[in-house]
Amino acid sequence: HLTPVILCGGSGTRLWPLSRKSFPKQFVPLVGDRSLLHLTLERVAPLGGPVVAVAAEDHRFLVADTMRQAKTPGTIVLEPVARNTAAAIALAALHADPASDLLFCPADHYIPDAAAFGRTVKEGLDAAGNGAIVTFGIVPSFPSTAYGYIRQGTPRPDGSLQVQKFIEKPDAATARQLLLQGDTLWNAGIFLARASVMLEALQEHAPDILASCRAAMEAARTEEPGSAAPGTLFLRPERAAFEACRSQSIDYAVMEPHEDVAVVPFSGQWSDVGSWNAVADLSPADPQDNRVQGQGWVHNARNTFIHAPHRPVVALGTEDLLIIDTPDAVLVANRACAEQVKDVVARLEQSH
Ligand code: GDD
Ligand code: MG
Repeated sequence: HLTPVILCGGSGTRLWPLSRKSFPKQFVPLVGDRSLLHLTLERVAPLGGPVVAVAAEDHRFLVADTMRQAKTPGTIVLEPVARNTAAAIALAALHADPASDLLFCPADHYIPDAAAFGRTVKEGLDAAGNGAIVTFGIVPSFPSTAYGYIRQGTPRPDGSLQVQKFIEKPDAATARQLLLQGDTLWNAGIFLARASVMLEALQEHAPDILASCRAAMEAARTEEPGSAAPGTLFLRPERAAFEACRSQSIDYAVMEPHEDVAVVPFSGQWSDVGSWNAVADLSPADPQDNRVQGQGWVHNARNTFIHAPHRPVVALGTEDLLIIDTPDAVLVANRACAEQVKDVVARLEQSH
């Protein structure tokens, strides 16, 4: 039995000012009129049993509302504080039936071909049944330092490929080298594993994280949000035990050191919608590489992206610009600086 687990605790600061602490990017309609979380629920719910979402306590109603709209009720595990993905995954694995296959999915990815995605997940089920942690690999297009890299090895009898080495977020020189070597894939950030296998891997590589999460889950409380979201359950791990948990991503905590990792390549369109450049690339371009959303207008411009859902925004004679208009804040940035938006947000937070 397969249970989709949606990780939706990220803060998405690189998409400021659209993505805010109180309303992060996974809840924002970035592509079309549905949020990335809504699209993710629709994509993964048909693959298995009731969905489990792991999210921040502060976002419980945003998640419950989206689950109601997407008609995919399930359990929402509410984290009192963010302790990164190793802890979020540990909570879900502790909650699950140990014999079930868990598909851990980020809430903020854009994967338009749900059918192709579903087929690729099914290709990984045998490897998961054989005790591997299964990753999904994307053919890399440039030496990004924002992704994990997978050096693929020989084919396994279960139809997947053995992972030789998992390298999380290499520096630029290493990323270039990995691309030149070939046989390298980006880690899509989606994992498939038996719950018992994930728990054993956490016990082996990050026993302190597992112990904190186990203590938090043993004292967890449940609440039915009732008519607000019928069929949905809030599950609250105990605060003090979870606060004491070490904060580390699953990629560093488990995927890098783990022996038995498999990969299934995914050839469909995939974007982790990580920055404004990634959002821009999802919109069609004019011959001068301009892209506009909403009421954006360009004239004699080149490589300019405008996001303007509320009022007309005009760019005249601009080059390589990102212009993001929201009711209470505007971002104007060089396209080459899209990754630095998170640094500016950190500075803004300090100054308030
Ligand atoms: N519940 C919960 N709690 N979810 C979290 C937390 C947390 O504390 N922190 C992050 N998440 C969610 C995010 O919302 C996102 O959906 C997912 O977990 C992954 O976290 P990111 O912070 O976005 O990771 P990343 O993009 O830097 O790197 C991961 O994804 C890449 C592909 O997009 C890694 O797995 C990389 O190896 C991978 O290439
Ligand atoms: Mg991400």
